[in-house]
Amino acid sequence: MNAYESTDLEESMFVAEPPGVEDPRVHPAWLPPEAFRALGARRVLVHGDGLLVDTVLDEVTRACTRYGGRVWHSPSWDVDVDLVLLLRDADELPSSAVEAARSAGEAALVDLGGDATLGDEGFLLTRAGDLTVLLADAPAGLLYGLFHVVRLCAAAFDPARPPELHRPALRRRMLNHWDNVAVHPVMGQVERGYAGGSIFWAGGRPRGDLARIREYGRLLAASGINAISVNNVNVGHAEALLLTDRLNDVAQIAGVLRPYGIRVHLSVTFAAPVVLGGLPTADPFDEDVRAWWAATTRRVYERIDDFGGYVVKADSEGQPGPFTYGRDHADGANVLAEALAPYGGVVHWRAFVYNHHQDWRDRSTDRARAAYDHFAPLDGRFRTNVVLQVKFGPVDFQTREPVSPVLAAMPATRIAVELQVTQEYTGQQRHVCHLGPCWSEVLRFAPWGPGGRTIADVATGEAGTGGGLVAVANTGDDPFWTGHPLAQANLYTFGRFAWDPRLDPTAVLDEWMTLTFPPSATADPELVRRTLHEIMDDSWRTYERYTAPLGVGFMVHPGDHYGPDVDGYEYSRWGTYHFADRDGVGVDRSRATGTGFAGQYPPYWADVYESPQTCPDELLLFFHHVPYTHVLHSGSTVIQHIYDTHFAGVEEVTVMRRRWRTLNGMIDPAVYERVAERLDEQVRSATEWRDQINTYFFRKSGIPDARGRRIH
Ligand code: GCU
Repeated sequence: MNAYESTDLEESMFVAEPPGVEDPRVHPAWLPPEAFRALGARRVLVHGDGLLVDTVLDEVTRACTRYGGRVWHSPSWDVDVDLVLLLRDADELPSSAVEAARSAGEAALVDLGGDATLGDEGFLLTRAGDLTVLLADAPAGLLYGLFHVVRLCAAAFDPARPPELHRPALRRRMLNHWDNVAVHPVMGQVERGYAGGSIFWAGGRPRGDLARIREYGRLLAASGINAISVNNVNVGHAEALLLTDRLNDVAQIAGVLRPYGIRVHLSVTFAAPVVLGGLPTADPFDEDVRAWWAATTRRVYERIDDFGGYVVKADSEGQPGPFTYGRDHADGANVLAEALAPYGGVVHWRAFVYNHHQDWRDRSTDRARAAYDHFAPLDGRFRTNVVLQVKFGPVDFQTREPVSPVLAAMPATRIAVELQVTQEYTGQQRHVCHLGPCWSEVLRFAPWGPGGRTIADVATGEAGTGGGLVAVANTGDDPFWTGHPLAQANLYTFGRFAWDPRLDPTAVLDEWMTLTFPPSATADPELVRRTLHEIMDDSWRTYERYTAPLGVGFMVHPGDHYGPDVDGYEYSRWGTYHFADRDGVGVDRSRATGTGFAGQYPPYWADVYESPQTCPDELLLFFHHVPYTHVLHSGSTVIQHIYDTHFAGVEEVTVMRRRWRTLNGMIDPAVYERVAERLDEQVRSATEWRDQINTYFFRKSGIPDARGRRIH
């Protein structure tokens, strides 16, 4: 047990704590009190009203109480201050600081050439003499601005700091929780959850720990997230009831997250009219079905007036959907969208639809093709409040996949890009695998060819009408939130990318480090920062090196998806194959001789991916079946590349572990120990991966390692 762990008895006491009290048994992640030191030592004036302004006041008050600063809320007399947080439409005050802030802010806005509006969530930071000024049009902007000031630490008070304007690139920045209300016999409380139980649910009931939910909302808001779905996309009976009988449980969560600007969404089952409404059908063309969705949705909004909308996994992996009634996915999505439209709600309709009853002998069926084949023909048929939620790759959150061609195929549809923060295929929060570089590659990818529009542009849409960014959460009731303390960085990075997908992943990681491991709280801040960068910056590529090679994917243990099993899925119905035989490996997805998947891309990439000569090395086996002796652009053969990367990957993990040990005594001992323990497992698991993969391919190919290393 460590400082962040509690007994059952303590757990029940925890429930009774009032919101806003920091709980010493839960790790503060990127909002430790120390991160508020620069702010908390200042004199701060807040001017404006609203629920989120109250949150700002609460945050500032906590910081100032701790570090000796002072706070005023709309004082009716003149006060000397260092920071003014100001809503633009707030009344005039007899305060020279407020007036100075207002005129400096307006002047800076003009200088920056903005359109003079900051929007619902934007803010401006500038200086006016000795004063730091934060200006926003709406309370949410003030809250995001406050967390920006926290991130900047003392730099926010630097007299030479030039004005900055911040508006989120993406309107909806959403987390999907795959949390079950009732414990699922196979998937447990949280499907693909590696951080303990659910923050929201326990054994069929609300967990009731509202203080923890509030703390969570605070962390999410500080990263930029503003929407959350609170139950699994696979909707069982207990989860289905959230829409009707258990709506109060959802309303309670919404009430706790509202002060942090986070709207709640629900995953619903397409069969709800049958399983909840007692109707004989869920056919979207049936009038009673439409009326049921309309009435049910009205009741939801009567209870939660800022409810975000529905998330739907339909006709996928056994979930019900419109195919049952001979309807397509636009028909299905539109009936829910119609019900939500009067209230401004949206349907996130997932594009993860494929045949999971495949036969490995049938080489014409290709799981990678499925989303495009189902959805591209429907472009233009979805209502405007449908967001098509598309996994970033065509298969399933593998460590390396090409970007899904669906993202470039539906210009008349609002598209959200779905990422997986929970590390289902990337080490399950037992391995360090910092996903920022992976997501950044996806978001910067230009599907129409270099220099063209990017995936970030697709998610943003014309004039902000895109579907945004969504990710599957990696959090649970674990005292570190994410099981592996360093996996907190993935969640933070997701939020920051959703705010601005063009951010540099290393810079975001640096931000996270400064907040989570405040320099003032360690004897050797430079050592801590350098070591964390050395361990984390390239950890995704390290993970890739010791797992499935060259984009071929899977090779994981079936079911739990942890650890190697090269043929685990090879002859299974799930359709995730590598086709290794004695002569070669990889999936031929070319137009000329393969499944034709390469032809789903716009011409530039269709041509690049079509030939093994032009296909990038890291995706070669995703697109082509090649002999082991095929020479890569790197100059190595495929088989030698497999051996080399697997040996290198394990060496890199061993070095990571050694480096981590240099931090003993430099950081919070509980964090130190948890990470040290997980690194031991990472070294063990990476070694297992190396040996299984190398041995498998040595035995298949009969080609020895050119460097004569030991292969079993
Ligand atoms: C993966 C994952 C499932 C999940 C599914 C989804 O297949 O293994 O647990 O339900 O993705 O995205 O819906």
